[in-house]
Amino acid sequence: MASELPTTFDKPVHIAVIGGTGLRSLPGYTPLAVLNPETPWGFPSSPIHILSHNGVPIAFLARHGVHHQFAPHEVPVRANIAALRHMGVRCVIAFSAVGSLQEDIRPMDFVVPDQIIDRTKGIRPFTFFEGGLVGHVGFADPFDHKIASVVKECASAMGGEGSKLHEKGLMICMEGPQFSTRAESNLYRTWGGSVINMSALPEAKLAREAEMVYQMICMATDYDCWHSTEDVDVAMVLEYMTKNGENAKHLVGAVVDKLAREEHSDMVLGKHWEGETAKAVKFM
Ligand code: ADE
Repeated sequence: MASELPTTFDKPVHIAVIGGTGLRSLPGYTPLAVLNPETPWGFPSSPIHILSHNGVPIAFLARHGVHHQFAPHEVPVRANIAALRHMGVRCVIAFSAVGSLQEDIRPMDFVVPDQIIDRTKGIRPFTFFEGGLVGHVGFADPFDHKIASVVKECASAMGGEGSKLHEKGLMICMEGPQFSTRAESNLYRTWGGSVINMSALPEAKLAREAEMVYQMICMATDYDCWHSTEDVDVAMVLEYMTKNGENAKHLVGAVVDKLAREEHSDMVLGKHWEGETAKAVKFM
């Protein structure tokens, strides 16, 4: 099917969804084009689908690849962000499966994080600023509170049983691909951690460098290992993801609908920046 779609798109696309484990497509939208631009940082994780809803184009990118072939530490994040920015994207909704570090965040609940602690190991390429190109961006508030408000307003779209939306949370982003030790998991709880994943960084940092507003929506798929004597197990993560996939799609769909109505607003266009740093991401 995809091969019959155009491979170019001549209008700017302002809003993107980056889907994680369990959210590999956005059904119900009209496919317009499939683009696979080569950037100076290589190709994105997957071809980028341009979908339309009520006439507004949205870019959808599967973070882990069409066949889930990229582990979190292997995702070509710079290519992903550069490719989206090149299409005109200024507003990113990123979806991620997470482990819960708190009793009241139950598997299948959603969390809209407002802060993050970086526990990646600095071995993933994490900046566009290098090789003589010097730049610094503020990152005190890694997520976008205006988009977060839109996500909260859309909580009722889930309608599914038992899934609660937590309006804020401290995310721990770890390196992986191994899950945490019990000691690490308990340490993160003493820091006040709410949820843990392996994908928020460097994605959020690179989006900030590219002057895009960025908000992650998390879905809890397990209690991290602090909770029991069991290990975290991938089968459990996937089981919850599959069970809750419909809720995830409804929530993301409602958020995108609402943002699409604001397509030209300052919120979606990240107008508060309009700075110089995004030059680093330009490649054509
Ligand atoms: N993604 C989903 N569950 C996770 C966990 N427990 N730790 C890190 N990343 C995760």
